[in-house]
Amino acid sequence: MRSRRLAAGLLCAAIALQSSPASARRAPRRIQLKRNTLKLNAKTMRLRVGPRAAREITLALDQRQSANGTGGEVRTLRAMVHLLRALKAHDAYTHGHAIRVGRYAMATAKALGLDAKSVNTVSISAKLHDIGKMGVSRRVINGTSGKLTRAKRMMFSRHPATGVALLEPFAKAKPYVAGVLTHHENVDGTGYPLRIGQEKIPLVGRIIAVADAFDAMTSARTYNKPMGQYAALAQLKRLAGKKFDTQVVTAFIKAIKSDPHAKRAINDARTAR
Ligand SMILES: [Fe+2]
Repeated sequence: MRSRRLAAGLLCAAIALQSSPASARRAPRRIQLKRNTLKLNAKTMRLRVGPRAAREITLALDQRQSANGTGGEVRTLRAMVHLLRALKAHDAYTHGHAIRVGRYAMATAKALGLDAKSVNTVSISAKLHDIGKMGVSRRVINGTSGKLTRAKRMMFSRHPATGVALLEPFAKAKPYVAGVLTHHENVDGTGYPLRIGQEKIPLVGRIIAVADAFDAMTSARTYNKPMGQYAALAQLKRLAGKKFDTQVVTAFIKAIKSDPHAKRAINDARTAR
């Protein structure tokens, strides 16, 4: 069984979060995360990731003691960088998408007139929004695993909760949890995983939802051709008030036209793979 996993190029790694920090060189072979945040599910879940991603997650978790102490903000951010590197090792497209969504979200937050601290929180939350996709196989992420079965859809729809579980060991990462958890909620209450509507979705979740959809429409994927920028904006407008917050869509359109971060993200999307 073990040799088969290794032969497939996968390292099924497990780290008990309660144990003392392990050095990266002695990277444990399993990553186990307790899904008890927000009472989503008390079951333990297991991430199946390759050795590079496992190493980066281990490096992130190694920082958690000092990150959770006094003045541990910088350590926390370093740990978040390791999580993003792990995402890059798991699926490079998703990592590129996350960075672009971070830029769009930051531009939108500024267009909405948020203060500098909130803009920063929105930007980091947006970069982290899909880290839970490390719990989804690359073939499912990229639509190359054949027919989309119920099991695959369920695996995919768990990624916001998986992302929350990855942030859970870091006390100072709490401000990023809301965006990670709610970026697939729709204002009409038809999203997931909580199926909450406009009033209950935090602003950060509503911002990331718009930025996420725009990048998904305009970047090249294995399973679809990218949509033009104007067609994608028209689609956002059509879905404003149903799927997306109308005020956020208006701010996003304003940001796309003028903000240098948003323009950079559009350029990056053209060369995305
Ligand atoms: Fe997502």
